[in-house]
Amino acid sequence: MYQEIDLNNIDLSLAPPAEEPARQYYFMAKCRKLLQQQEEELGRPLTFHVTTFGCQMNARDSEKLSGILEQIGYGEAAEEQADFVIYNTCTVRENANLKVYGHLGRLKHEKKIRPRMMIALCGCMMQEPEVVRRLEESYKFVDLIFGTHNIFKLAELLAKRLEERGQVVDIWENTEEIVEDLPVDRKYPFKSGVNIMFGCNNFCSYCIVPYVRGRERSREPGEILREIERLAAEGVVEVMLLGQNVNSYGKNLPDPVNFAWLLRKVEEIEGIRRIRFMTSHPKDLSEELIQVMKESRKICRHLHLPLQSGSTRILEKMNRKYTKEQYLELAGRIRKEIPGISLTTDIIVGFPGETEEDFEDTLDVVRTVGYDNAYTFIYSKRTGTPAASMEEQVGEEEVKDRFSRLLPEVQRIARERALGFEGTVQEVLAEELNEHLPGYLTGRMSNNLLVHFPGEASRIGKLLPVRLEECRGFYYMGRAV
Ligand code: SAH
Ligand code: SF4
Ligand code: F3S
Repeated sequence: MYQEIDLNNIDLSLAPPAEEPARQYYFMAKCRKLLQQQEEELGRPLTFHVTTFGCQMNARDSEKLSGILEQIGYGEAAEEQADFVIYNTCTVRENANLKVYGHLGRLKHEKKIRPRMMIALCGCMMQEPEVVRRLEESYKFVDLIFGTHNIFKLAELLAKRLEERGQVVDIWENTEEIVEDLPVDRKYPFKSGVNIMFGCNNFCSYCIVPYVRGRERSREPGEILREIERLAAEGVVEVMLLGQNVNSYGKNLPDPVNFAWLLRKVEEIEGIRRIRFMTSHPKDLSEELIQVMKESRKICRHLHLPLQSGSTRILEKMNRKYTKEQYLELAGRIRKEIPGISLTTDIIVGFPGETEEDFEDTLDVVRTVGYDNAYTFIYSKRTGTPAASMEEQVGEEEVKDRFSRLLPEVQRIARERALGFEGTVQEVLAEELNEHLPGYLTGRMSNNLLVHFPGEASRIGKLLPVRLEECRGFYYMGRAV
């Protein structure tokens, strides 16, 4: 494990080891040495800043990048005016992609003033060949470009950049490799994401994730449990198990297991008080999982169950592999088996060929299920996905009109659902100081609702009973009791 590796004991006169993660520790030590002179000249430690776009997977990857940079000797800076700036990118919708180019303009200017600063781009966008081509041609000031499969190689790539001149580009198309036991710098001391699988095999027709994250690979359960035990020993009370489709966890392991089994094992780990997971594909959600959730004392009363569309016709074109009726039956069963559970979802408006009638089906599911929260997205065409070449792309005006009818409905229902807890006492995990209200903490209920309540910083990371005094739409004002 990384804590036991002392970079000072690594003999840099030897060739780098071939096996991982030892190879990366060698390069961390090497980078440390290569950067020493710069640091002495500056008379201060070098700093880094990681900017993360996209989902929880990317957020977790960023913690790994930070962990490596801290081992090398960089100190974390709150701002992008750092000696090493990394953008961990997302490309799930065009907007996410455009944002990165926007930021790059600013960085170019920054690098003119401070030519020794390092700029790295990684993550999902880098797995798109046309993006990399564009960066190679027109963004030569970017020092490092790598993808989603080789983030563990950051130190090796940086060493290369420090020893040679010019842009270092290393993108892998896919990988079977899962490198364990590299340093991680967690954003929160009391909660942590834990990857249980990487990639996706579902190929929903609108989605670019399978192309940029590669084929589905599950981590060995032993590795996952060992990581969670270690986290618990470090004081973590809440874990979020991460995967694009956690319900298919373990199916392709040499000794196959399933997600419900893994949850039972995580439940046994002492010190862990709350278990969350993201994301569940409705087509693979088993009855066993519902039962495990129902019986569990630790699994949070929250399930994110992406709908995408309420129309069976559109769901088929999306390659989602369930019908409107199957989804409604599943949601109904979950609500019945686990009373009080919060159900949240993702919805795409304006998928190619979506008619008014299809959209009405989506509204119907929204009203029937009564989501506690829903993320609504306007369909974004992603080059290379099957949906991008479908005819009948829906007109912009029509999409906007539907979106503006869906959003208030989603919000009205969410508000109504939240209101149902008023006056009750709930267990809340105090997560941070409230930025806007001095003397207040912000915490999260098991069902993921936020609560603001008076409290001191010393209570952060604690599970506290809090009376929910006033519902303000999607969050509560409360008081610890
Ligand atoms: N694996 C998760 C989703 C990951 S992407 C799942 O299957 O639920 C997160 C969300 O982004 C998706 O649920 C979908 O609603 C949205 N999304 C993905 N591709 C999109 C696209 N091309 N346009 C608009 N929204 C999209
Ligand atoms: Fe994308 Fe579908 Fe995979 Fe989710 S399950 S990541 S929406 S392809
Ligand atoms: Fe975006 Fe990649 Fe996540 S495309 S949503 S960061 S898996």
